Amino acid sequence: MVQTKWVVRDKSKKSVYWPSQEMKERAFVGSDKIYKDAAKNPKAFWANLAKDGLSWDRPWKTVYESKPPYFKWFVGGQLNVSYNCLDRHLEQRGDQDPISNKVAIIWEPEPESERARKITYMGLYRKVCKFSNVLKKIGVRKGDRVGIYMPMIPEALIAMLACTRLGAIHSVVFSAFSGINFKKRVDDCEAKVLVTCDGYWRRGKQINLKKQADIAANAKSVKKVVVVQRFEGKNEFKLKMKKGRDLWYHELMEKASEDSKPVPVESNTPLFLLYTSGTTGKPKGIIHDTGGYLTQAYWTTLFNFDLHEDDVFWCTADIGWITGHTYSCYGPLSVGATMVIYEGSPDVPDWGRLWKIADKFDVSVFYTAPTAIRMFKKMGKKWPKHFDLSTLRILGTVGEPIDLETWNWYFDYIGNKRCPLIDTWWQTETGGTLVNALPGIGPFIPTVAGRPFPGTVADILDDRGKPVKKGETGYLVFRPPFPPGLLRGVWKNPKKYKDTYWSEYGIKTYYTSDGAKWYDKHNIRVTGRVDDVMKVAGHRLSSAEVEDAITSHFHVIVSAVVPKPDEIRGQVPVAFIVLKLGVKPSPEVEASIVKQVRKEIGPTATPHQIFFVKDLPKTRSGKIMRRFLRSMLVNKKLGDASTLQNPEIVDYLKKVVGYKRK
Ligand code: PRX
Repeated sequence: MVQTKWVVRDKSKKSVYWPSQEMKERAFVGSDKIYKDAAKNPKAFWANLAKDGLSWDRPWKTVYESKPPYFKWFVGGQLNVSYNCLDRHLEQRGDQDPISNKVAIIWEPEPESERARKITYMGLYRKVCKFSNVLKKIGVRKGDRVGIYMPMIPEALIAMLACTRLGAIHSVVFSAFSGINFKKRVDDCEAKVLVTCDGYWRRGKQINLKKQADIAANAKSVKKVVVVQRFEGKNEFKLKMKKGRDLWYHELMEKASEDSKPVPVESNTPLFLLYTSGTTGKPKGIIHDTGGYLTQAYWTTLFNFDLHEDDVFWCTADIGWITGHTYSCYGPLSVGATMVIYEGSPDVPDWGRLWKIADKFDVSVFYTAPTAIRMFKKMGKKWPKHFDLSTLRILGTVGEPIDLETWNWYFDYIGNKRCPLIDTWWQTETGGTLVNALPGIGPFIPTVAGRPFPGTVADILDDRGKPVKKGETGYLVFRPPFPPGLLRGVWKNPKKYKDTYWSEYGIKTYYTSDGAKWYDKHNIRVTGRVDDVMKVAGHRLSSAEVEDAITSHFHVIVSAVVPKPDEIRGQVPVAFIVLKLGVKPSPEVEASIVKQVRKEIGPTATPHQIFFVKDLPKTRSGKIMRRFLRSMLVNKKLGDASTLQNPEIVDYLKKVVGYKRK
């Protein structure tokens, strides 16, 4: 069978690709005129998108309002997110319609012995209505916070949507984070109710999540904990339910009514909080609003992934991250798409699992992280070869810069040289993608993210705030009007909001903390973080967060954690630790520190390597110079040591690390 080619090669630049005629014709946007038109009046552009894409209960009075560093979109407009993701589709996709019961979620459990679940829009609507009534019954009201701590199971999405139906604010926490870490977030947002589950499958093992959730359930604010039975009572561990506090999801759902009216909220009302790592040890609760966020989620999903009625979309991100929120929940559901979610690990039972799933469900648009592709590349092309991936039409990546070899491997062996590969740059803070090529427009250039999304204004500035010239590296920023999905604050911490995003270049320029350069007049290459934030297997982790966890160990005086490049994971954390007087470094001490990190944060933060040292490089004011350690690990030039309080430490550290100047 001849397969449709969705891309063609550039005639002169062999590594650059463009959409084929078929792709252009099929795509929602096939002409770059959209960029010019949007730039003429970005506010009107977004206003039209918000009107066309979403259903509003009340129209807005003002499109955009700005009081730097704050801004608002669609002021006075009212809408409900669950209505936009569910109810309105039923008119087209419900019982009465020929495409009634379109599948919303295809859930693949990790054990192959279990059957996949398919939930239609109608089925999902019913469950969300019921669960919103459950939440209401246990006291959740508009504006209340609900902590959600669940793996990739449909109930995680049901819980999120049920919150939005009531106008409650959810805070989803990655299920591989420890209970202590979850509690920190629950304490910060004062969640009234937690929704969790007994556990989940990970690499063939049952993980007891409830045990971790119990740590957070001890938070002062928590009144009730709803527990989903993922294992349907067949768990291999003993489960403890606290009387009066812990309630079974299935029991509550059995009694709940399906009659639920969505509560409309003003567009700028917080929709959810998502905690993310910054440069301090304390994670920040990023606030996303309702109308602006959903507008960006809706249109980036449609334009980037070009989802038509017959498409099956699979974004592999976990629901605990922003990618999971926007592209495994709100984006695809608001456009009425069918999507796949998978509970487990990509190597169970072997490295062919993802391709087997893609084949089984005829996935047409596939979105994942470079770290995953690097792993697949290492495992070899024989795995995807076993499966029929001919339904694939568009590939995407997110989370970190993608190197040339990985890009090519993904393009060649997964896309079979036929599919546009879009490298999407964005952040937890931006809510949706902001820099990438569009599949019907292109170009698709390895290692280049692409163009700022229509209607957004990006720039790359030097240290003094001047735009850089082509080829020079600077800092990626956004100018007003700010993308509608951009964060609206940091929970209970306006100072942090201002200091982190609106201080570098003043209160009218959003600072991303990413380095970037112009590849050409329109396209941007993102080089990565310029602050003390690492991307470990695509997960965002701050040096300070890991250091805090290490320093809380009773044997430790001080520590510094820096990233080291890693072939598969992108970066890995390396720790330099000063032990208390009299404590000797030993494998036991090391193991106990690692245990502490896993307990405080979770396995993603496990140091790849630990150096026990007598001191750390410090400035005269006592600040640890992580920069020195970072350079040492990659044998790079170290810079001037004379500004250090303890310059003699440099030679000592060089020996410890085995530094060899390149
Ligand atoms: O450094 C950038 C990198 O990931 C950071 C944001 O991480 P997080 O908030 O966890 O969100 C990840 C998913 C949206 C950015 O500051 N990053 C993300 N996408 C890319 C990227 N770096 C280069 N290229 C990308 N496509």
